Amino acid sequence: MAFNNMEEFITNLPKAELHIHIEGTLSSEMILKIVTRNKIDFPYKSVKEINKALAMRIPGLKGFLDHHYLVVSIIQTQADFYEITYELLRKCKENNIVYIEIFFDPQFHTTREIPFETVINGIHQGRLDGSGTFGVEANLIMCINRERSVESAFEMLAQARPHRDKIIGIGLDSYEEKNPPRKFAEVYLRAQEDGYRFTAHCDVDQVNSVEHIWECLDILKVDRIDHGINSIEDPKLMKELKRRNICMTTCPIWRSTDPEPQDIRRIKNIYEFGLLVTLNTDDPAEFDSGYLTNLLMEVQEKSDYSKFDIVHFMKNAFEGSWLSRSAKDDYIKSLLDYAAVHGVNMA
Ligand code: HPA
Ligand code: ZN
Repeated sequence: MAFNNMEEFITNLPKAELHIHIEGTLSSEMILKIVTRNKIDFPYKSVKEINKALAMRIPGLKGFLDHHYLVVSIIQTQADFYEITYELLRKCKENNIVYIEIFFDPQFHTTREIPFETVINGIHQGRLDGSGTFGVEANLIMCINRERSVESAFEMLAQARPHRDKIIGIGLDSYEEKNPPRKFAEVYLRAQEDGYRFTAHCDVDQVNSVEHIWECLDILKVDRIDHGINSIEDPKLMKELKRRNICMTTCPIWRSTDPEPQDIRRIKNIYEFGLLVTLNTDDPAEFDSGYLTNLLMEVQEKSDYSKFDIVHFMKNAFEGSWLSRSAKDDYIKSLLDYAAVHGVNMA
């Protein structure tokens, strides 16, 4: 009974998500649909084969990304970008996500001869129509692929300039090894002139993770860190993250072989330390954790979080978002009203 009550509470909770890659939301069914439409010779021919390949991929960031990009390469047309974005907003509605910030990776597409316009126009229109249909607010974050050159990142910034109003911020993702944040110092500096907000991935347990987080703070001047869990190893860094009120977008995802959501102990320590930490799904179609409601339920149970804690995480997400102050306040008010009705007093 108690658990069912929690299940209902989490299901209906108004949610925000700040760390999700649009290219990581392709369901097996969507993959087959796009492969057929684009007449692509894809190695996996059925839902079963796609799911098997997903389960067999090598653990770790590189193994994940190698498989991820094989799948992402099926996306080709503006209609593809439109459809995956529209479908993500349908998923948001199903999960009671009222606000979402979505990463996209233009360089992976433009280096396959897909025009930047095709990518941004498809995603933007999908976001507008999805927002209209499902009542979900969404903003877009353009990621720099960190294994690519600094020149390529500058080129992407230039391509994005006519579309500045469609993109809220800049991120940094993909293969982290040998690609530290400082590599993109000049790019972030230039992007500052364009008025973007800044975040960057510091993935879990990478070589020099802690150093990378420091670089994000001191060189890139981010106001968010994606993942960032290794900060727990450096008390001085933890204090600095707290002092600057940096939002951490952690992703306690899991694969079928994991006994529990990844990194939940370290995430709990970071939460208890009082950082502005949030819970996110990263690439929901590519992990067994799936979308946010499912992830929150499992994390709540395995970490023994109370309703208060779950509301607190969600408040952090609205607070750490790149919405205006008044929009944040409106969303937080709705969240706290919901909490109060369910006997959770956040005051
Ligand atoms: N980490 C880094 N880069 C990515 C990811 C991720 O989880 N998903 C898509 N690009
Ligand atoms: Zn990510």
